This record gives sequence, C-alpha cells and structure tokens, in this order.
Amino acid sequence: MQFTSLVAAASVASFVAALPASHYLWPMPSSVTDKNAVQAIKSWSDPTASCSGLNIDAFINSYKAKTGKDLPRSDAAPGPNPTQVYVPNPPTCSPVAPKYKRDYSQPLDFQIKCDVKTKLSKAAELAGVDESYSLEVTATGATITANTDVGAKYAIQSLSQLITKDGQVVLASIKDAPSYPFRGFMLDTARNFFTVDDIKRVIDGLAATKMNVFHWHIYDSQSFPIKWDTYPQLDAVKFKNDDGSLKQYSKDDVKDVVSYAFARGVRVIPEFELPGHNAVFAAIDAKLVASNNHSPWDCSSGIPYCNAMPANTSIGDNSGPTVWWGRHYCNQPPCGQLDIANNLDAAANLVDQLVGEVGGWFEDPVIHVGHDEINPRVYGVVKDTDDHPSHRAFDKIMPAFEKKLVDILAKYNKQMAAWDEVAWDNVPSYNTSHPKYDANAVSYNSVDLIPKDTIVTVWDQFYLGSELYEKIAANGFTNIIASHNNYWYFDCSPGVKWCTQAFEQGARDKSGEYILYPNHTWHNWTTVYNYDPKDGLSKTAASAIKGGLGALWSETIKRHNLDRFVFPRAGALGERLWSNIKKDANTEARLNRFRQSLVNEHKIASADLEFLGREKTVYRTEWCDFNLDTPAQKTVEWGFPGQPVKSGNGSDFEGNGYVSIPNDYCKIAGTYKTNAFTYTSPQAIAYDF
Ligand SMILES: *[C@@H]1O[C@H](CO)[C@@H](O)[C@H](O)[C@H]1NC(C)=O
Ligand SMILES: *[C@@H]1O[C@H](CO)[C@@H](O)[C@H](O)[C@H]1NC(C)=O
Ligand SMILES: *[C@@H]1O[C@H](CO)[C@@H](O)[C@H](O)[C@H]1NC(C)=O
Ligand SMILES: *[C@@H]1O[C@H](CO)[C@@H](O)[C@H](O)[C@H]1NC(C)=O
Ligand SMILES: *[C@@H]1O[C@H](CO)[C@@H](O)[C@H](O)[C@H]1NC(C)=O
Repeated sequence: MQFTSLVAAASVASFVAALPASHYLWPMPSSVTDKNAVQAIKSWSDPTASCSGLNIDAFINSYKAKTGKDLPRSDAAPGPNPTQVYVPNPPTCSPVAPKYKRDYSQPLDFQIKCDVKTKLSKAAELAGVDESYSLEVTATGATITANTDVGAKYAIQSLSQLITKDGQVVLASIKDAPSYPFRGFMLDTARNFFTVDDIKRVIDGLAATKMNVFHWHIYDSQSFPIKWDTYPQLDAVKFKNDDGSLKQYSKDDVKDVVSYAFARGVRVIPEFELPGHNAVFAAIDAKLVASNNHSPWDCSSGIPYCNAMPANTSIGDNSGPTVWWGRHYCNQPPCGQLDIANNLDAAANLVDQLVGEVGGWFEDPVIHVGHDEINPRVYGVVKDTDDHPSHRAFDKIMPAFEKKLVDILAKYNKQMAAWDEVAWDNVPSYNTSHPKYDANAVSYNSVDLIPKDTIVTVWDQFYLGSELYEKIAANGFTNIIASHNNYWYFDCSPGVKWCTQAFEQGARDKSGEYILYPNHTWHNWTTVYNYDPKDGLSKTAASAIKGGLGALWSETIKRHNLDRFVFPRAGALGERLWSNIKKDANTEARLNRFRQSLVNEHKIASADLEFLGREKTVYRTEWCDFNLDTPAQKTVEWGFPGQPVKSGNGSDFEGNGYVSIPNDYCKIAGTYKTNAFTYTSPQAIAYDF
C-alpha cells in the first residue's frame, strides 16, 4: 500500500477534500495518490460508450444516494448539447499544477473512459481472472484501465466511493490488485431458507467489498431446497411458505443467481454436502441414509447423562466431564448420513446424478463436496458403549467412497473443494501423547486419493489452530482457504451454543429470557479484520493459502437478521483479503462510511459497527417449525438457550452450571413461526463524509 500526496496540486485548489483520498475507499487499494482536490460535478458522459456494461450505475447510484439528486448523462440526453466547459489541463497533465487558476466549485461534466482488454463471456472464466485495475481521477473525469472487465467494474466501485457526501469527486490516482485471489463468503440456505432476492442482496454487498466467491451451502440434513425434477420425492424435505408452496430454488433461480453474481465478478460455488449431514436423501430411498432421524441425536441410546460421562474425553487440556461428539450421531437434528458403508453403489449413483444434473446449473469449475463432521458411529463401526471411535474407524469406508467421488467429479470436469477433515492425516489429534490429542478425531484415510489441487476449506481449528494449515500444506495441498471458526464464522454469537467447546455452561441473560454462553463472544468486526491466517506460518503453508471464507451457518439466522449478521463484518473480511493491511486509526471511520453505502446504495440492512450479536430471541433452524415434538429432535444435551433452566435434579437453576436432561432441541421455536420473519428495506442514513 502506498499513499502519495501531490502538494503542488493542492496549492491551487481552493476546494481541497476534507480528508485524504484513501479515507473514502474500502477496501483500501494497493496504491493511492491523493491529488488533494475535489471537483463538483453536474453530469456524466462516456461519448464512446467505452464503459457500457461495466456497472456505471454504481457511480450514478452513489451520487444519488449522497445528494438526493440524479446525475444526468450529458451525451445521451436528447435536446441541446450540454454546455462545453473549458478545461485547462488535459487529464494526462493532472499531476502538474494547473497553469490557470480555476474555480473548482463550478460543476463540470464528468467524463468516464474505460480501456479494457478482455471481457469475460461466461461465469466459468471468473476462476483465476485478472482483477487488477488503475483509476485516474481528474477534475474533468476518470480514466479506467484494466485487463478485464472484472477489474474495470472494481474501478468503477472505487470511483463511486470517491464521491463525497456533498456530491463532489475526490481527485486521486489509484493502482489496485487483490492480495488473495479467493475472497469468499458462505451462506447456508438449508437450516433456514432465504429467497433469491436475499441471496442477491448478499452478493451485491460482497461485490461492493470486492469479494469474489459466493459459497452456497445449499442443502443439509434439515432441507433440500432445490427443485430437482429427477427426484420429486425431495419435495418432502423442503420448507413451506404459508400458502403451502415449497421453498426451493429452481434451475432458473440458480441460473439467475449465477448470472447476477457473474455480472458483479462473483463466482458461485455450490456446496453439495456429502456424505455427512445427508438425512434428506432418505426421502428418495430409506436405504440411502444411515441412522436417519436417530433419536436422541446426540447420544447412542438415551442414557441419562451419557453426554457427560466422566470419560477422559476430550481434547488436549480441555478434558472435562464432556464427551463432545463422543456418542453423538450428529451435531444437531436430524441425523443421517449418506450410507456409503452399506449401500455404496446406490449412494455413488445418486452423487453422480446430482453432480451431473444439478452441478451443471452452476457454471463454476469448482464443486464443494462438504465432508465436514462425518461420524463413524452412524455406520455401526463404533460400539454404542464406546465413548470414542477408533482413529481408524473410517479406514475402509471413506477411501471406497472417495475413489468414486473423485471419478465422478473428473467425469463432469469439476474441480474438488472440501472442508479440511478430508485432508487430516498427520495431525497430532491422533497422537495419544501429544497435548492436542483428540479422542474423537477419525482419519478419513483419503489424503492420497484426493487431487492435490483440491480446494481445502479449513474451518475446524478449535484445537489445532493454525497448525492445521501447516499439516495440510505438508500433505501437499496448495489451495488452502482459511475459514477459521474462531474468527470467520459469522454465526458465532453469545446465543450460539457450539462456538466454543465450553458450551455446557450457560448463564441466564439478565432479562431472564435466554441463556448466554459466557465465553461465546461475538466475532465482532475487529476480530474478523485482525485475523491474519498467514501469521506465523512457514513459507510453504503461507503460500498455500489462497484466500479466505466467512461462513454464516443459518441455524439462528432468519430473513430479518440475515443482513445484520453478514454486514458490515463481511466488509471487514473483504478488506483483510483484498488489501491485507493492518488496522489503523482510520479503519473504523472508513468501514463505517462503507456501511453507510451498503445501507443507502444497496439497501442492505447492515448492523452498525457496535452490534454485538445479541438477539432478543434465540432462533432455531426452520426444521423446528415442523418438528417441535418429533423424537428426532430429542436430545440429552445440556440446556439450550431459551429453555427453562433446570438443574440436574429438576430444580430451578440460576447462574453457571449444568442444566437439565432430557431435553428438546426445538421447543423454543414454539413461540414463533419462521415465515413471520421478513426482510425490511432499511431507512436511508447519513454519510459521515
Ligand atoms: C479418566 O481419568 C482419570 C484421572 O484423571 C482416571 O482415574 C480414569 O481411569 C480415567 N477414565 C477413563 C475411562 O479413562
Ligand atoms: C507424539 O507426540 C509426542 C509429544 O508431543 C511427540 O514427542 C511424538 O514425536 C509424537 N509422535 C509422533 C508419531 O508424531
Ligand atoms: C471464560 O474465559 C475466562 C477468561 O478468558 C476464563 O477464565 C474462564 O474459565 C472461561 N470460562 C469458560 C466456561 O470457559
Ligand atoms: C471485539 O472482540 C475482541 C475480541 O473478543 C475484543 O477484544 C474487543 O474488545 C471487541 N471489540 C468491540 C468493539 O466489542
Ligand atoms: C439441585 O441442584 C442444585 C444445583 O446443583 C442444588 O443447588 C440444589 O440444592 C439441588 N436441590 C435438591 C433438592 O437436591
């Protein structure tokens, strides 16, 4: 990053920007040369239409949001020619002090010129595209130079940010390119459903912060919201609108999202979660799913306190009276995994159809195939009485599936992406004498079967932290995406149970309304911003990290709180990944102004920077609307937020400690209906500068 100030120009301009040019920009460009001047504008023009199709609207909308006035196009408007303004300096001379004193307050026509070498023709071409640009802003207009239209659109975004709240343009010259090629955000549309408009709004905000991947965690055990005509049986595992219609994405919806994102330089990478979290496929054929709807979902047989047997369970120095994962069949209801142990061929056939048919709707060369939290207990290879699986419990099961999966992806010309468990092999979790020994970790035994160019999305860093990057890089993987759950999981908030391992201890909120998990801090924007995944890594691991992913799992996210959980924190992540700079005294003010543009220019109901994730109500997955009393939602877990807090002996309980058994996962949802929550377009707010 480089800031230069051209003092010469400043000496003649009576209208100097109130703040340095760099303060107006988010994310911070690689280099900004401030010309210490602003220019009032009254119209825009592009006589050769060189910028058409490059989202000039971002510029016009920004002007309108700031001034309340339209910025007319002078060269396209019918009627008399616009008044010609005498321009003493051609733009190429701009760094030199003008020869003539000029009145900068006189509004000028602002001419925008784009010089772009290549325009992408399809979404698939976004992978690895050159996103760099340069932007020269003078009193008479802007000149944009970029190798691709993707870079040019980013330039226009930066230009739109250079409009002050008074409708003047801050003069500067900018050269810019991203630090990381992969800058992503994940939305889960299976725990709660979001409309195509909700998704587009998120994509719009991501693009505004120059993020370029929308990772679509489209289905999970709770629902399969895809209209896949081959299997109408899957209608049974979709949520419903009040009129009974199904909440689902058709092929046209998917194509609509893909092309909307493409227009903004954003890749859409679908996640086809496999083979864990797959209860939905039982709707096609019960044989496809092992342990479907197992009840209770978090213990083998409903033994009271089975989840808290004093086994020396856990992990590293976190040994407590908890068997995290130990006897669980899944991490939340409903349980069910694709039965790759007993019905491998049928399972693989289904995957082949899914990738071949639905996978084809997504143009991106990459498909993410999930692979998080696959539980061997589900396949009957761990005795119910064993608290912990053998580390080798998957040795036969996973490789057989993996070979088929790799072939299927190759057949359809798709590159593999998966969560990090797929690449665990040499981790200390399997070493009983290591402090980070993890009694519940199970090797997928597939590291050598997976292509080394697989995109490995690293989330599961509770215990291993950045050591996981080292281990995965040491296994030969060179496309690591950082998604550290302690920093870049956007659902983590005081009311979300699983975000630290100390989840059993809850305390009532002062209002008495719900339990807050004491050490469950909200991943506030500075937490998101300050995390640098390359910090302290070896050269090999650092160079293997190609970017990052913010992840919003949607158990507690409904349509009305979606925007405030995504923004402005996704903006913070966007700057980390684009600019990779350290926080300084101006970061907060810049981010706050960026937030104002999200609200005003993109109609995103962003939180403010002080939001701490505390919601009046604790929400549950939409699945709970329909499963309040089903056995599948039975749990022996320790208390859930929002439930009456009881001690183990049934008496009322206040303060830290363990809470009652047995329990229900869903009952809290009885007080609301998910469909009652809708997105509300935010009121316009003032810009700070
Ligand atoms: C658990 O650890 C305690 C000591 O901390 C030990 O006495 C006990 O035998 C261990 N139990 C199991 C099941 O390993
Ligand atoms: C297991 O961990 C111990 C303690 O850190 C270490 O000394 C040992 O080398 C490790 N064993 C293997 C096979 O990595
Ligand atoms: C919460 O954090 C504090 C300070 O970091 C620590 O002392 C305490 O043990 C933690 N509590 C739990 C339940 O993990
Ligand atoms: C954000 O979170 C960090 C880490 O938990 C904390 O130190 C900091 O005070 C928080 N900032 C705000 C504004 O809440
Ligand atoms: C029930 O448990 C709570 C918390 O452990 C304790 O304070 C209380 O005395 C117990 N009540 C009875 C009747 O045993």
